[in-house]
Amino acid sequence: PSGTEVNSSKGLSEHFSQTGNWTFNLTLANLIRKDILRFLDPLRDLSILRGAVRPGDTVHYVLDRHSSTHITETLYRLLPSAPPLKSQFHRSCAIVGNSGILLNSRCGEEIDRHPFVIRCNLAPVEEFSEDVGSRTDLVTMNPSVVQRAFGDLQTEEWQLRFAQRLKALGGSVLWIPAFMAKGGEGRVEWALQLIQDQGLELRTAVPSLRLLHAVRGYWLTKRVPIKRPSTGLLMYTLATRFCSELHLYGFWPFPRDAHGATVKYHYYDQLTYRYTSSSSPHTMPLEYRTLSTLHSQGRCGCTRGLGA
Ligand code: CTP
Repeated sequence: PSGTEVNSSKGLSEHFSQTGNWTFNLTLANLIRKDILRFLDPLRDLSILRGAVRPGDTVHYVLDRHSSTHITETLYRLLPSAPPLKSQFHRSCAIVGNSGILLNSRCGEEIDRHPFVIRCNLAPVEEFSEDVGSRTDLVTMNPSVVQRAFGDLQTEEWQLRFAQRLKALGGSVLWIPAFMAKGGEGRVEWALQLIQDQGLELRTAVPSLRLLHAVRGYWLTKRVPIKRPSTGLLMYTLATRFCSELHLYGFWPFPRDAHGATVKYHYYDQLTYRYTSSSSPHTMPLEYRTLSTLHSQGRCGCTRGLGA
């Protein structure tokens, strides 16, 4: 599709910023939105609503159908009563991926100028604001991130750091895919308790149980066989509903940049490139190529990795 700008201010961006004059393709953007709506309704699928469930309800995990959990009292209380992005439509949105391609990009100001900024997996911003910006309107939190980036909350220090990260988000939407895969319920509950006990302004959202398969279905019809869409691709697909232009930054699932220099997997930690191996849950290079095609058609605008 066209109408996406991938700014690889190192990443998809770097490649494309060199090609210069990218033009937004409104016709294609509208077509894509319409097409996606045949598979999912991003506004509704963005979050389960309080009215649709009750505390104690059993929920089967999307990727582990034989395992289940239940809706806790805390989760029930924190679910939104109306779609979190109801009536929102923005001229442009930034989706910030976590690739190290963003380091030294100085994309921060540009990212923050977008009226709506989406980030992934509670990636830190403060110490990197020059390169990644600082505003956040929606941020995702895979339960595994609590383990990976916050020491599984095992010590008071990690708990404090986690609490500080959530507080810094103000009234943003915190998007927690709580029911995708088994294993993170304790961490999700801890985060929700914290939000509740400290009266944080965060607006919690938990994606619908059909979202993942609907997104896969949409991309399959585009002949993009994605095993399990990455957070970045999920955000792209959802954002088509509430953003006109989409600008992607920090999408660069490759260990080297266009000039052969080493690129960190994440701009903020030491994680390595497991996503190029066949055991990976994702097919990020395929996603990248797909988004690059969109970029060349004027759908996805990016400067630095797709869009920075
Ligand atoms: N990303 C990328 N290139 C990288 C790192 C990340 O394109 N080197 C994009 C991907 O779309 C990814 C998103 O940025 O989903 C957020 O990155 P990350 O937090 O690393 O997501 P993962 O945990 O790797 O994957 P997921 O949350 O999708 O399971």
